[in-house]
Amino acid sequence: MAKNYKETLRFPDNFLWGVSTSAYQTEGGIVCDWSGWEKSLERIKGIKKQGLDPEDFICDKACDSYHRYKEDLDLVKDLNCGVYRMGVEWARIEPQPEVFSEKEIEHYRQVLKEAKKRNLKVVLTLWHWTNPVWVQEMGGWANKKVVEYFLVYAKRISQELGDLVDFWVVLNEPMVHVFNGYIIGKFPPNKFCPFQAYKTFRNLVQAQRKVYDLGLKSPVGITALINYFEPAREWCFLERSLASLMHYFWNHKFLKKIKNHIDFIGVDYYFHDRIVWYPPFRKNLNEKVTDMGWEIYPEGIYYVLKYLGKFKKPIYIMENGIADAQDKYRADFIKDHLYYAHKAIEEGVDVRGYFYWSLLDNFEWAAGWDPKFGLYKVNRKTFQRKARPSAKIYSKICQSNSVEI
Ligand code: FCB
Repeated sequence: MAKNYKETLRFPDNFLWGVSTSAYQTEGGIVCDWSGWEKSLERIKGIKKQGLDPEDFICDKACDSYHRYKEDLDLVKDLNCGVYRMGVEWARIEPQPEVFSEKEIEHYRQVLKEAKKRNLKVVLTLWHWTNPVWVQEMGGWANKKVVEYFLVYAKRISQELGDLVDFWVVLNEPMVHVFNGYIIGKFPPNKFCPFQAYKTFRNLVQAQRKVYDLGLKSPVGITALINYFEPAREWCFLERSLASLMHYFWNHKFLKKIKNHIDFIGVDYYFHDRIVWYPPFRKNLNEKVTDMGWEIYPEGIYYVLKYLGKFKKPIYIMENGIADAQDKYRADFIKDHLYYAHKAIEEGVDVRGYFYWSLLDNFEWAAGWDPKFGLYKVNRKTFQRKARPSAKIYSKICQSNSVEI
């Protein structure tokens, strides 16, 4: 696809511009399945073996957003964003089964009120992979009972905070939890067990459906990590079939099951995979990669949006971002993805918002503190936030509702 670099592309009126974060990656001081795993001897041993420092893989105080949320919300405003995606932490709110912490619920009410004071809309994520320790002890999401507990939690949060929430994300990227947790073991509970993976998949589907059926006042959705899989060689039947198969299992199957239980689709786009028929089945060109080695492939978002358009639901790009410590590619990364999002909109796909991941450099899960996704740098000792040059460019985009390319 040829790019025309001499245009100003305007986005539809009322298009939402935002940034995304999650509770665990930013708040600090959370005790849950993840924090336990990070500090486990096995994990620490594994990291040392690679010659790395275990401290760089422990979330601990994160960005201290639990205490600095007002400052964070001011930064969102400085970006001229109209919406902020944040999360609430189940483990904080419900430290024991059906024992809720009034104090923590009140804390989140304060955060949301501060967002409203600044005239920000809020997307609230209920579950972003982390679980209370008691959920972990029950066997995690592979246990059907967890669905019922989750429902009690979701109901309580919707009663307590619902008046301040504009959009609900029930689950963040459930397929990542299933695959990383139960197939490749990279995330807690660090297993290889296809049967438990299947049960977890099924229970997460149920969770989404049941929370939707609570009939919350604001729109309810999900965030799905949608990859753009394409055959390395269009003429090769095997590669075409493999790419379709991967698309089906990774992108489509979960969405198909919950499509009647979402008011909108939140899409997270980071990955492009060029599929070959021989191991490791992926051969990307990698002309440009992020600090995490992920291929930068903006046109992929166009195909992903075209695919999602078929569900006939409003779409919000709820995560798109780059690990780029030097801020070398970030501004172009955003612009190029917006170029292709705009193209999809022009072709009739109902895309209603774009959220950059992430506001801050935060704790990047199994990859620890090294990847820098933030529009703002965060000093790990003082927690001081500092805008990267790309923040200015993004703020201009948000303010003008357009992108110059
Ligand atoms: C997404 C996660 C988010 C963040 C980005 C880089 O898959 O939802 O928490 O880690 O990747």
